[in-house]
Amino acid sequence: MGKTAEPQNISVLLDEKRRFPPPKGFQKSAWANDQSVYAEAAKDPEAYWARWASELTWTKPWKKVLEWKPPFAKWFVGGKLNASVNCLDRHVYASESDYSRRNKAAIIWEGEPGDTRVMTYWDLYRGVNKFANVLRKLKIKKGDRVAIYMPMVPEAAIACLASARIGAVHNVVFGGFSAESLSDRINDSKVKLVITADFGWRRGKPIALKQAVDDALKSTDCVENVVVVERNHGRGESPIQCHIEEGRDHWWHRLMDDAEAYAEPEEMDAEDMLFILYTSGTTGKPKGIVHTTGGYMTGVYATTKWVFDMKEDDVFWCTADIGWVTGHSYVIYGPLANGSTVFMYEGAPDWPEKNRFWKLIEKYGITIFYTAPTAIRAFMKWGTEWVDKADLSSLRLLGSVGEPINSEAWMWYHNHIGKGKCPIVDTWWQTETGAIMVTPLAGITTTKPGSATRAFPGISAEVLNEKGEVVKEGGGYIAITKPWPSMLRTIYGDEQRYIDTYWSKWGKGTYFPGDGVRRDKDGYFWFMGRVDDVMNVAGHRIGTMEVESALVDHKSVAEAAVVAKTHEIKGQAIYAFVTLKHGIEGTASLIDELKKHVATKIGAIARPEDIVFSADLPKTRSGKIMRRLLRDIAEGKALGDTTTLADPAVVENLRKQYESLEGS
Ligand code: WTA
Repeated sequence: MGKTAEPQNISVLLDEKRRFPPPKGFQKSAWANDQSVYAEAAKDPEAYWARWASELTWTKPWKKVLEWKPPFAKWFVGGKLNASVNCLDRHVYASESDYSRRNKAAIIWEGEPGDTRVMTYWDLYRGVNKFANVLRKLKIKKGDRVAIYMPMVPEAAIACLASARIGAVHNVVFGGFSAESLSDRINDSKVKLVITADFGWRRGKPIALKQAVDDALKSTDCVENVVVVERNHGRGESPIQCHIEEGRDHWWHRLMDDAEAYAEPEEMDAEDMLFILYTSGTTGKPKGIVHTTGGYMTGVYATTKWVFDMKEDDVFWCTADIGWVTGHSYVIYGPLANGSTVFMYEGAPDWPEKNRFWKLIEKYGITIFYTAPTAIRAFMKWGTEWVDKADLSSLRLLGSVGEPINSEAWMWYHNHIGKGKCPIVDTWWQTETGAIMVTPLAGITTTKPGSATRAFPGISAEVLNEKGEVVKEGGGYIAITKPWPSMLRTIYGDEQRYIDTYWSKWGKGTYFPGDGVRRDKDGYFWFMGRVDDVMNVAGHRIGTMEVESALVDHKSVAEAAVVAKTHEIKGQAIYAFVTLKHGIEGTASLIDELKKHVATKIGAIARPEDIVFSADLPKTRSGKIMRRLLRDIAEGKALGDTTTLADPAVVENLRKQYESLEGS
């Protein structure tokens, strides 16, 4: 696998002997309750996906299920539908013989200070319709791009669904990203309108989102209007004032007051764009991943129903922010297309105390809980006393996503949160795949702690080696060998990068996700982490080059190399090796300044854990920085082959310096 250091516990993982069959009774009532679902799907994947698609509401049927001209796929060709209709109208106006979910809770929300809201499907339907009219009034039409930069409040979901209703393309930017990251994304996709909030709460502090939008807009000239949600509207005074620029900025509640109650949904082609979501890659420039309507909705609908075994009276809590793909697919589109009740929480898990999540589960009777290993490891560290006091008996299924889950964290999750009775689904997927790809099915899969088990029915996943040969048992790269409905369609504005990044390693028909994986003798997948220059810090994808560009942007920095180091809680942490410009002294205060600089340029999630100054960086004779060596230094490992190095002394010096830093 070359580039990525294997986690030290790899042999532990593969020796894992513990087995967890589906709990008694679970299988009988599960949607997916027989192993035959795999063979059935594999026999004719197109027919299988068409069956799923037909559970959605279409205004025109498709003529052809799949048109595959590698690496370009069209799914449900000629079919017409609207994503918001599938998430709302069909639940509100179900025919009399159907179960109508009009008065069912669609979103149950709690803000960090403890304020709460419940929106029924009817409430959400009305909100989305009205906001769709607001967008139309602000001259947003089909195909226009809308940026959403918001805290976790119900308006964030309304904004997405209203864009979808009128055929606008949303581009959600995580509220933790900096003004500069926001303006880059706005400029790359030529956004016409931004939806934001005056602020959001995080660990008791107001995060000034609108302020960041104001800063971002200084370096963009495509945005015509900004809509601002007043976070505390009707619930007390705002802790911060925000600037409203006459003519450009509008308060959400004022616009909504005047909006008409019904907005005709735009009839969208299955292949019309639903959203763009930026994610990190191996260059300094994030990629705008493009998802379309019909295939994406089919993928998230199917996986929500089967992976989470979603039932009518479940209360589903996916802890992801809507700024990430997990929030798109499993806070908004998947659950709402299923008519489920979604729980949404604004703030931090340790605010005001470390039992906040457990109190929420108890208070709202959450039945399905989906979170990331980094959170689980933090809970473990905080200790079981926070968990043990809460009544978690409403839970019936647990999920994990975002990074490999080590068996220790898996067992802790199983014992302390699931109380030994809830199946765990460890779900592997990506922004690019749109929906879950590798996962247990709770009713039928015997799980092993640390393994994501098998491909979802209808998904063709293999382990391939460098040459593209199938590895039946052992290590290699995960590959997806057939197109699937919710796959990305391209990188916005950069088709060549789409082809080069994902479809060139083994030829145009095979998707290369960039993850290392092992397959055991039962065919189960064990994910090992990225094999490219993408880091996974607390479940967030960050490119090493992005952080490097941010560092060299600082006036004192001549050169920088960034690597990830294994971190007990975050999975990985960012380590930077920096060469300063001539005459600049590497002081402790400069380290702080550089860390801050990266946070300002990208966002706090990209702040380096540590920075080491070095007069030189290890380079090959052709001048390429040898990251592998730096990774080894950061991990404190024996150094591998240094024969291609231009000056081996550089490495030795660096290591000494690094070790003295670790010891200090
Ligand atoms: C990693 C998040 C191991 C993987 C949905 C992938 C995982 C990247 C898992 C995508 C998992 C996600 N086990 N690794 N269950 N889930 N990953 O685009 O490296 O933010 O390529 O999508 O996260 O991150 P992204």
